[in-house]
Amino acid sequence: MRLILLGPPGAGKGTQAANLIDSLNIPHISTGDIFRANIKNETELGKEVKSYLNEGKLVPDELTTRVVWDRLDQEDCKCGFLLDGFPRTIPQAEALKAGLIERGLELDKVVNIDVDTDILVKRLAGRRVCKSCGATYHVAGNPPKVDGKCDSCDSEVIQRDDDKEETVLNRIKVYENQTQPLINYYTKEGLILTFDGTKPIDELSQEILDALNESK
Ligand code: AP5
Ligand code: MG
Ligand code: ZN
Repeated sequence: MRLILLGPPGAGKGTQAANLIDSLNIPHISTGDIFRANIKNETELGKEVKSYLNEGKLVPDELTTRVVWDRLDQEDCKCGFLLDGFPRTIPQAEALKAGLIERGLELDKVVNIDVDTDILVKRLAGRRVCKSCGATYHVAGNPPKVDGKCDSCDSEVIQRDDDKEETVLNRIKVYENQTQPLINYYTKEGLILTFDGTKPIDELSQEILDALNESK
């Protein structure tokens, strides 16, 4: 299956992806995770994208698209993929479409997770992520079993640099201006499935899996 997870910052794309890939057996490809790993490892790409992430701005389309195709052309994506955080602009969606056509491939569905802005701000302020494996928690709603330690790998659980309130508000604005138009774009393509992102995490994962099964 070739899927896209669409939704504003804090909608739960990463949280749902972690659940969905277990059942779907496809790799989870998050452009945000790729950029953060490169920043952490101080690669050339990391140096190039760091200021965009810190300010909550989008990395330029051409660079982002190149990074995504480098990843999608790897062997493990032959059976499909779950894209999280890409595409985020109409030009990125067009570039994805062109690349898929070139390779004789098609998208199956776009899973759109819908959450109101006031909830997003609260979620991102309370979000904590594992420093090593990237597992996602929330101080109130979904805390790690041992305070400050990741359930899966025991590493330290920290706050993401771009989860400071003013950066969060900027990311939401960027989403509304540049990414939200993709809902209409993929509706026209007949690919969109929209879900209420305020449901409990596991219930929502099951609902998404059921809908994907039904649409086969
Ligand atoms: P990225 O890492 O993609 O960030 P984002 O889109 O802002 O999304 P988040 O990761 O913040 O939220 P999420 O939807 O994954 O929510 P999560 O599951 O963590 O991108 C970061 C940056 O990279 C961008 O700003 C940009 O600079 C750059 N970038 C990335 N892709 C790009 C692209 N294509 N083009 C250009 N630039 C790009 O959940 C959030 C919180 O809510 C957690 O605490 C979680 O526990 C909680 N939660 C989740 N689900 C529920 C639920 N159902 N109920 C209650 N709480 C929940
Ligand atoms: Mg995420
Ligand atoms: Zn971990």
